[in-house]
Amino acid sequence: MDRRLVLEFVRVTEAAAIACSHLIGRGDRDGADAKAVEAMRQAFDRVPVRGTVVIGEGERDEAPMLYIGERVGSADETYPEVDIAVDPLEGTNLCAEGGPGALAVLAVAAKGQLLNAPDTYMEKIATGPEGIGVVSLRKSATENVRALAEVKGRRTSDITVVVLERERHDKLVAELRGAGARVHLITDGDVAPAIATCLPDSGIDMVCGTGGAPEGVLSAAALHCLGGAFEGRLAFRNDGERQRAIAMGMTDPDRILTMGDLVRGEVIFVATGVTAGPMLKGVRRIKDRLHLQTLAMRSSTGTVRWVDTTVRVDRFKG
Ligand code: FBP
Repeated sequence: MDRRLVLEFVRVTEAAAIACSHLIGRGDRDGADAKAVEAMRQAFDRVPVRGTVVIGEGERDEAPMLYIGERVGSADETYPEVDIAVDPLEGTNLCAEGGPGALAVLAVAAKGQLLNAPDTYMEKIATGPEGIGVVSLRKSATENVRALAEVKGRRTSDITVVVLERERHDKLVAELRGAGARVHLITDGDVAPAIATCLPDSGIDMVCGTGGAPEGVLSAAALHCLGGAFEGRLAFRNDGERQRAIAMGMTDPDRILTMGDLVRGEVIFVATGVTAGPMLKGVRRIKDRLHLQTLAMRSSTGTVRWVDTTVRVDRFKG
């Protein structure tokens, strides 16, 4: 993929972030999601690729979405064919309630290089590079914490694990605490902490538990760029979801998905902050300009860019 596409995709997540930023703290989940989705869809029209959405987010909670299979970008046959994973507003509740860390996110890979999976749940484990070949969904939470502590040369009490605060995680949290780890509970948004496991000063060592499958694929794409470790296993709520995964080409939908199953080859990953969080600044208005911050990465070179952008506010209506 042409490296100039990175900036094109930055424009796409910026557009989604700006659009939903008008609804930060307004209590309107679906309204904010719809704004981000529509802005992202329109922004794709200006990107010189022939894109197919293979990972969309919104089916699970019946929210507005870019549909799996939807064609985005251009129809021009001279442009490259790419597969795209999107979450126009990751952390809808965070945006609606003015909470920290909502993002507009996407990942792009050459055709056939991203997992094609339904919007269901996924059991996940993510760590920085030290966790490669060390942590796994095959192991218990206790074994993973101990193994990661050992390879990092720390005590288990110095390992911080991020978990979504959900009833389904009560046993997991108890086990992690029993193993001596520090558990950092979050209300929403498990993509940003997965990325944070690879950022040395984040203080986050591991993310585990069950969250959205689209967010899992997006996290894997980011960690593919950063050299981190990620495994996932789809967690279906019913047989219909399992059958849909099979129809989408997954021969064994219950198996553990390694990084290579989730994302392969060259990947571009882009995330723009919507609300301010530990990783990215949110959309801010300063006088007559909007200020944005975006993380943009390319797996082939491992380049990580923090892009600060300001745009004239009169170009964007609320
Ligand atoms: P949305 O942007 O769809 O609201 O997703 C936010 C999120 O917290 C994800 O980061 C996470 O993977 C998923 O929801 C968890 O799902 P649930 O809230 O159903 O437990």
